Amino acid sequence: MHYLLPFFKWSDSTWLAETIRGSRLYFPIIETFHLLALTLLFGAILMLNLRLCRLVMKDLPVRQVASDLSPWLSWSLAIILVSGFMLFSSEAMKCYASVPFQAKMLFLFAAMAYHFTIYRKVTNTDREPKPVWSVALALISVVLWLGVGLGGRGIGFL
Ligand code: HEM
Repeated sequence: MHYLLPFFKWSDSTWLAETIRGSRLYFPIIETFHLLALTLLFGAILMLNLRLCRLVMKDLPVRQVASDLSPWLSWSLAIILVSGFMLFSSEAMKCYASVPFQAKMLFLFAAMAYHFTIYRKVTNTDREPKPVWSVALALISVVLWLGVGLGGRGIGFL
């Protein structure tokens, strides 16, 4: 982690970081957007996973459900990433020392890598995998995204 210290120090000292720290309102307002977008992201992921497991919208092809949910997913993820970076910059040195933050970033990297490669490939084809594979793929997705959320919750606690 030491080699990242200059980046954390720089984030902590930007105009953005100082502006957010200088107000009692900015942090909670940005965090509200962070969490609202998170509910949209989790909602979209959950619907797609339930469809993968053949529990909802069985008459619609997975591919169609995935493409209908895609803008919700991308926009909510974009809002989370931008608001997350803003929250982070305002307390970058706290994050540097935070194990939950490190875990959260690892989960985030793994969740995004998984989602935009293996998971996307499966949800973008017309041939559905066997039920046991669908459930496994859905479970991995839920565990990875949940890991990000729990890591985020842990930053304020631990
Ligand atoms: C899908 C991605 C993400 C999810 C699911 C997520 C989830 C969460 C959750 C659940 C919280 C806790 C709110 C609370 O305790 O009330 C949180 C807070 C926070 N998140 Fe995220 N987050 C994501 C992305 C990011 C990114 C990319 C960053 C920074 C680069 C970030 C930085 C933060 C910070 C600094 C906090 C405030 C922690 C505190 O002091 O309480 N998040 N996030």
